[in-house]
Amino acid sequence: MPTFEVNGAPLHYLDVGHGPSTVVLLHAFPLHGGMWAGQVPALTARHRVIVPDYRGLGQSGSPPVASTMAILAEDVRALLAHLRIERAGVAGLSMGGYLAFEVWRQAPGLVRGLALCDTKAGADTAEGAAGREAFAKSALEHGLGWVADQMTPKLLKPNPEPAVVKQVRALIGAGTPAGVAAAQRGMAVRPDSTPTLATVTVPTLVVVGEEDGLTPPAEAEKLVAGIRGARLVKIPGAGHLPCLENPGPFTAVLAGFFDGLPD
Ligand code: MLT
Repeated sequence: MPTFEVNGAPLHYLDVGHGPSTVVLLHAFPLHGGMWAGQVPALTARHRVIVPDYRGLGQSGSPPVASTMAILAEDVRALLAHLRIERAGVAGLSMGGYLAFEVWRQAPGLVRGLALCDTKAGADTAEGAAGREAFAKSALEHGLGWVADQMTPKLLKPNPEPAVVKQVRALIGAGTPAGVAAAQRGMAVRPDSTPTLATVTVPTLVVVGEEDGLTPPAEAEKLVAGIRGARLVKIPGAGHLPCLENPGPFTAVLAGFFDGLPD
């Protein structure tokens, strides 16, 4: 899979399928683009699909001290410019949703439609941001095994399937402690996207796992209330990662949304 050097950082990405339209998939923390493996084949039937890993996660390198949404959105835009892609549907799950909001703010003309999955608009509280700093320090000290122990139960529904637990731990294990710390520090300073909701003018799909404990369905309902014409779909049998926990219905909803976007 290719790597492109963006602003001094080697950015690893998947580029599969043929247009005419393009879909960009933005992953959750602390995973990497491989979390979309179940969705990519359904999307490539009709779209070119671009799946980056953020700096320091998956196979992308050189994380800054804080992977702010501004830096990551500039990376995504530079990658798309490099690939000569002028417009794309954008799906973001959780941290990927925070990033999708920033891509929209930086370059609304780039975005044909938004799929906001298991994410929320609000910024961190002071307490939440302090918790992220503590997590960042512990990740640097204790490593990715510790990160997987902390995060996996939060990401999945209660009593998750062992195969999915294994998958999530492997996705986390492909990153670096510095990348995990940078992502936490970047999310801690992300802006409040609540005022952004009313600015969204492209078709928007909101998806949430019914058993998502990190960004529960109530957060998804706030997104739908704030974005004109947005549609909400709840995925049963899934926590924060319906792409892995119940990929059948999740993939069908996502592909149906992107297939139906107007040009
Ligand atoms: C994620 O899944 O990307 C994270 O749980 C988001 C967050 O920590 O706010």
